[in-house]
Amino acid sequence: MDKERVNLPLTDIPASWYNVLADLPKPLPPPLHPGTGKPLTPPDLAPLFPMALIEQEVSPERWIPIPPEIRELYKIWRPSPLVRATRLERALKTSCRIYFKNESVSPAGSHKLNTALAQAYYNKLAGVRRLTTETGAGQWGSALAFACQVFGLECTIYMVKSSYHQKPYRRSLMHVWGAKVHPSPSRHTKSGQGILAADPESPGSLGIAISEAVEDAATHDDAKYSLGSVLNHVLLHQTVIGLETKRQLELIGEKPDVLIGCVGGGSNFGGFSLPFFPEKLANPKLRIIAVEPSACPSLTKGQYAYDYGDTAKLAPLVKMYTLGHTFVPEGIHAGGLRYHGTAPIVAHLMHLKLIEAKAYTQNAVFEGALQFARTEGFIPAPETSHAIRAAIDEARKDDGKCIVFNYSGHGHFDMAAYDDHLAGKLEDYEHPEAKIKEALRHLPKVG
Ligand SMILES: Cc1ncc(COP(=O)(O)O)c(C=O)c1O
Repeated sequence: MDKERVNLPLTDIPASWYNVLADLPKPLPPPLHPGTGKPLTPPDLAPLFPMALIEQEVSPERWIPIPPEIRELYKIWRPSPLVRATRLERALKTSCRIYFKNESVSPAGSHKLNTALAQAYYNKLAGVRRLTTETGAGQWGSALAFACQVFGLECTIYMVKSSYHQKPYRRSLMHVWGAKVHPSPSRHTKSGQGILAADPESPGSLGIAISEAVEDAATHDDAKYSLGSVLNHVLLHQTVIGLETKRQLELIGEKPDVLIGCVGGGSNFGGFSLPFFPEKLANPKLRIIAVEPSACPSLTKGQYAYDYGDTAKLAPLVKMYTLGHTFVPEGIHAGGLRYHGTAPIVAHLMHLKLIEAKAYTQNAVFEGALQFARTEGFIPAPETSHAIRAAIDEARKDDGKCIVFNYSGHGHFDMAAYDDHLAGKLEDYEHPEAKIKEALRHLPKVG
């Protein structure tokens, strides 16, 4: 078995997704209705999601079978390789072993397609005609655009305005795959109109774009909403990443000491790390590190509280580490990490001290990205580079550990950000304390 790049056969594409809810030491605090503040029931979610996904959202089953149609589509790029970063190790002169799981090999260039295909599939089965969604840097939007194309669904995407202009080619991907893309805040929804009335120059945020997409689906009978992160069923679909990684490490006789993933809403980090939770519970020394931007530090500086998942308070209230649903982060290049909250599962694990979190500023992140690109060759997405930065810092401890991180996406459409970094034009936004304090004042009173 080659230990430097572990490729699994197609038959090793996982047959089931892993549901961590079955193994949590304490149950997850329930989501609440945004209007009544009462625990949410499956029918409350029916205007937004098909019943199959709602059932997955609340399922207590440890294993949820992956339908054959989805496994067949996963064959386009799965199983993805696990690669040992030997050249980076040599450059760092470290005794640590560094591995990365390469999720950038999907057609859309990131991990997001794992859930996009599943969500489009269940919506198609339920007779839905159109899906609406939000996207930050465009990774999620492009994945859903392709998934809708595969299943013959229409796709309407609200793209955070700062990214709409920063990442024109991700927008082109969505167009190639047949989606309609609106810069958000837009005039297409009441939520967007309200934001623009208050601030015509609003750069947008994931919280605002979610409000627009939810409103669009809730006000059209033939449409449903699709979320690229945060929710339990999204993390569930992403567990194919961690399940394959476990198998690959086993095959080469490795046991991880440190697992690292970047966090936006938390599906990348969750999908990669949750399948290792049984190991974590048996071995507290296994470290699991979530990495986020200093400009949007929900896990490291947020409050563990019930908050709205979106700016216009249309999405359910969930207990999470939040910076406040009105918080609009600076327009950093890691657009996919500009979310005010976190997945309830990730927040719960953080609260139980089963995971740790770290935050980095953009230039520190891009220094890590350059070192990776100049040794390993692959050019990472700015989001992914947060994990790389943390992996490099762990490896610098030179303590012989096995470090594994998720290479969530490539940066081929982020070259303007690299140009800015190389030209010394990238701004660092330190912990935005006053803005967070102000946004946290607007947390809903619950209970
Ligand atoms: C390449 C890449 N990695 C990671 C993330 C963060 O994903 P999540 O929201 O699932 O935490 C994103 C989000 O868009 C992304 O594009």
